[in-house]
Amino acid sequence: MDRPHVRLSNVTRRFGLTVAVDHVSLEVPEGNFTTLLGPSGCGKTTVLRMIAGFYHPDEGDIFLRDVRVTDIPAHRRNAAMVFQEYALFPHMTIAENVGYGLRMRHVPQHAAVRRIQQTLELVGLSGQERKFPHQLSGGQQQRVALARALVVEPDVLLLDEPLSNLDAKLRVRVRTEIRQLQQQLGITAVYVTHDQEEALAISDRIAVMNRGRILQIGTPLEIYHRPANRFVADFVGLANFVEARVVGAGRVETQGGTLAVHDGAQSGTVTLLLRPEAIRLHRQPPNQTSNILRGRITSMSFLGTLARYWIDVNGMRWTVDVPSPGEDVLDGEVYLEVPPERIHVLQE
Ligand SMILES: Nc1ncnc2c1ncn2[C@@H]1O[C@H](COP(=O)(O)OP(=O)(O)O)[C@@H](O)[C@H]1O
Ligand SMILES: [Mg+2]
Repeated sequence: MDRPHVRLSNVTRRFGLTVAVDHVSLEVPEGNFTTLLGPSGCGKTTVLRMIAGFYHPDEGDIFLRDVRVTDIPAHRRNAAMVFQEYALFPHMTIAENVGYGLRMRHVPQHAAVRRIQQTLELVGLSGQERKFPHQLSGGQQQRVALARALVVEPDVLLLDEPLSNLDAKLRVRVRTEIRQLQQQLGITAVYVTHDQEEALAISDRIAVMNRGRILQIGTPLEIYHRPANRFVADFVGLANFVEARVVGAGRVETQGGTLAVHDGAQSGTVTLLLRPEAIRLHRQPPNQTSNILRGRITSMSFLGTLARYWIDVNGMRWTVDVPSPGEDVLDGEVYLEVPPERIHVLQE
């Protein structure tokens, strides 16, 4: 891996008796888009604020490139933060809002005007300079907040749930824009969200957090398909967890029958992770004999691009997604084909 741009080394931060961040180590490579993903209260914002310099860690150190910045104040770190609630100044025009950081840095007026215009163009807001925040839509206000962070040409862009005040469709659009902008500028970004789909969609890497700790760092594919533990598997996407016993090399016994698995299963009891879309459903028993289980459909939910079935497999309740179902509806007894390579073994 390239030399990390942002590095946290064993960082802990407490608030009274609360351990908000608990011995977190993290390396964000140059130009990388890393997302901190986790439930509310798990310490995401606290990590971001420590990188920005708004909070000092109780233990551990923070480095930007090779410089230890732990004791360097926020305004000398060249990191810019975009906040969830935008935090725009209501009585300043858009141009004044965006130019705020430039005034703080005593950038001469003519240079500032040009930079403000360039940045507004970058976020698609040319021509809005003289308006006030309340005259813009939520999505536009979010872009102003982004422009205000980008105008100072930060080394590191920190984004704290920047889309949570937007409606669903706009969230998808703006998140794509943020990702494109980040790639276009080659800027290093640390993004915070509790939305797993958002994290999967835009990140190079995801750090999944819970209770102040990082449980796993990986690409979206790794996090989704090879979660380190049950919490990660459950938090990211839908999951069937199936208790099983290892009965031989690559063979496990479940309540519904024996399954071949490719993942390294050593011995004892394990939990199998089966994603709903990894299981195929058949009306008739398929020709192959292994990795077929019998089940009965108990309910179904049509979601347009997929049909979601709840299936009783010998007393277990599984969720199975059928992609692109068209108008085909399954009912009653079905055969579940469980491809061995799609079974992830959690050895906990
Ligand atoms: N300024 C603060 N004062 C006291 N407790 C705080 C403060 N900031 C965060 N906390 C606590 O630290 C924990 C982590 O908070 P936070 O980093 O905001 O989580 P997240 O952003 O993941 O929702 C929570 O229990 C929260 O209540
Ligand atoms: Mg937060």
